Amino acid sequence: MFMLPRFWGPSGASQGPCRPLLRFFAMPDPKHNSTIDLRSDTVTKPTQPMLDAMMRAKVGDDVLGDDPTINALQDRCAELFGKAAACFVPSGTMANLLAIRSQTEPGDEIICHPESHIYHYETGGYAAVAGCSIRFAPGERGVFDANTMESLIRWDDDHCPRTRLVSMENTHNRGRGRVWPIEQLHNVCQRAHARGLRTHIDGARIWNASIASGNPVRQIVQHADTVSACFSKGLGAPVGSIVCGEQKTIARVRHLRKMLGGAMRQSGVLAAAAMYALDHHINRLADDHANAQRFADGIDAIDGLTVDRKAVETNLVYFDLDASLGAARNFLKQSTAAGVLMLDEGLQTVRAVTHLHITRAMVDDAVARIASCVSALRQVGGAR
Ligand SMILES: Cc1ncc(COP(=O)(O)O)c(C=O)c1O
Repeated sequence: MFMLPRFWGPSGASQGPCRPLLRFFAMPDPKHNSTIDLRSDTVTKPTQPMLDAMMRAKVGDDVLGDDPTINALQDRCAELFGKAAACFVPSGTMANLLAIRSQTEPGDEIICHPESHIYHYETGGYAAVAGCSIRFAPGERGVFDANTMESLIRWDDDHCPRTRLVSMENTHNRGRGRVWPIEQLHNVCQRAHARGLRTHIDGARIWNASIASGNPVRQIVQHADTVSACFSKGLGAPVGSIVCGEQKTIARVRHLRKMLGGAMRQSGVLAAAAMYALDHHINRLADDHANAQRFADGIDAIDGLTVDRKAVETNLVYFDLDASLGAARNFLKQSTAAGVLMLDEGLQTVRAVTHLHITRAMVDDAVARIASCVSALRQVGGAR
C-alpha cells in the first residue's frame, strides 16, 4: 500500500505533523546560490583553524579537575574578568542558572528587566530549579537605573519574599543589542551591594558590549559578583560558556553544575575552541557591528520597513514591518524562499544578527533580496 510521508497533510494546516511541509515550502529558492543566515550569531560553525586547535587540544578528565585546556581557559577567564575563579559550562542558559542558584535560596526574589533572557528564554529555570520569583525593573531597551532597582527591594517582612539578586543583561538581546552605560551598571551593582543584594551580569554578548563601548570586560563587570559569558555566540566557538566570580561562589557553581549534568569529561576540545576564539575573534566583532549598521541603513531605506537606526549599537538589528506587508512570520516565509533567514520577534518585528560568516557583500545581497520580497509582496497585497 502506498503511504504518504507523515508530514503530508491537508493544506493550510500549520501545526503538528504538517509543520515540516510548510518548512519544505519555505526552503530557499535554488536560484539563490547561497543562503544568508541572519537568524543568530549562534549559527556559526567552527572555522578550519579553530578545528585544528581543537584537534591539538591536550585533554584530561575535567570532572576530576585535570583537563589542562579547561583549567587554562578557566584561569584565563578569571583573569580577563578580574574575578578569583571561573567554571566552564555547556551553555549560557546553564551559566545563568548556576549563577542564580548559587547565590539564592528557594523563595528568594530576583530583580531583572522585564525583557530579560533569563525570564523569557531559559524555560523558567530560575523558578523550576532555583525556586525564585522575579520582580521587574522597567527601563528603556533592557536597561534600568539604581533608583528603580532600589525601589523594588522588599522590606524585611514575614509576608514578603527576600530580595536577593539583581540580574543585568549586557548586551541586552531583546533590548535590540543595547550596551549598558557603564556608570549606570556600576551604580546598580554598588547600590544593590549597599542593600545586601548579590549582582549577576548575563554577559552572553559581553564582548560585543566591550568592543562597542571600548571598555575592557574586566572594567564592565568590576562591581558584579558573578558574570556569565558565551563563546558560542559572536565569538564563533561551537559550544560553551563561562561563569566567573569569587572562589566560594564558583565552588558552589561547580558543585551545582555536576547536579545538573553539566560536568563534562574531556571537554578540553571545547575549551581549545574557546581559547582560539578569545585569541582571534574578539576584535573582529567590530566588523559585525559595522555590518549590522549597514544592514540597518539598507533595510530602513526600503519602503514599508523601519529600523530605529540609533538603537543598532552592536550586532543585532530589529526592524518593523508596515502592517500592509502582513505579519512578520509570513514575511519570513518569503525571505526564507529568497535565501535570507531571520527570526520574528513579535507580530510585526523581525530580528537579524550579523556574525563571523556574514560579509559586507552578503549584507548588501541580503538587503537586495529583502527589497525584492517587499516589492513582490506589495503586488499581492501583503504576506499571508
Ligand atoms: C542574552 C542571552 N543570555 C543567555 C543566552 C543563552 O545561551 P545558550 O543558548 O548558550 O543557552 C542567550 C542565547 O541567545 C542570550 O542571548
